[in-house]
Amino acid sequence: KAQLGTTPNIKHIVVGRCYTYITLVNPSLYDCEEIWRQFEEAVVHQSSCNVTVEDYYRMFNVMPQIWPCNRFLFWSKTRALMHSYAAVFQHFWTLEDTLVGYMFNDLIFCGQDEDSFDFNSCPEWSTCRNHPVYSLWRQASQNFAEMACGNITVLLNGSIVNAFNRKSMFGSVELDSLNPQRVDYVNIKVVTNLEGPHESCSHGSVVDLIQILQYRGFHWTCTD
Ligand SMILES: *[C@@H]1O[C@H](CO)[C@@H](O)[C@H](O)[C@H]1NC(C)=O
Ligand SMILES: *[C@@H]1O[C@H](CO)[C@@H](O)[C@H](O)[C@H]1NC(C)=O
Ligand SMILES: *[C@@H]1O[C@H](CO)[C@@H](O)[C@H](O)[C@H]1NC(C)=O
Repeated sequence: KAQLGTTPNIKHIVVGRCYTYITLVNPSLYDCEEIWRQFEEAVVHQSSCNVTVEDYYRMFNVMPQIWPCNRFLFWSKTRALMHSYAAVFQHFWTLEDTLVGYMFNDLIFCGQDEDSFDFNSCPEWSTCRNHPVYSLWRQASQNFAEMACGNITVLLNGSIVNAFNRKSMFGSVELDSLNPQRVDYVNIKVVTNLEGPHESCSHGSVVDLIQILQYRGFHWTCTD
């Protein structure tokens, strides 16, 4: 959002979430302080519209994570449903269940010239070529999709036009990062509100998604 600056207390939130994650959510061994250092290094030493995915490489290098196959869940414009779906079918993992997703969910951040975070205002995503928040999520999404294996599930919102949107993170980053050699099936679920569908497996943008999958050699299923 425009005008909002870096989330207050960001260091405590990020490091705290990291310790929560490695202690309670998914007991694991990561150096939370080092992750923070690399994150800070990436964000505050650049101009606020010029933080590239490459600037985050060192941070991602200190937080490698491997996921079991058949549990990857991708979603687009179905956030509320995604949470209940993942809650009901507990074996699913979304980007928000990864360490990086858990740590940075809903946070805003950008740097300013004096090598510190700008707590007053951050640029809008659309005004920057390389927005620090966008670049972090872009790289996180790419890593997540590159690792996807076995059967994966894609939840799309059939109550909107362009349920599959080439400009969404799923359509622009994750889809292209999926590897047909690693993925057995892409199982698409098109979910709609009670008011009814705009799009379905056989109508609208979902058809485009299926064509792209077919062209790239993926096996797929689609369920309305
Ligand atoms: C963006 O960052 C790169 C590398 O960090 C630097 O070479 C380039 O000059 C920067 N561009 C702007 C517009 O600040
Ligand atoms: C689909 O999008 C509509 C409009 O944005 C939203 O109201 C609805 O909650 C979304 N459906 C799901 C399943 O998330
Ligand atoms: C993968 O998906 C296909 C098609 O939906 C299904 O036949 C198969 O049983 C699934 N395999 C696993 C391991 O879930």
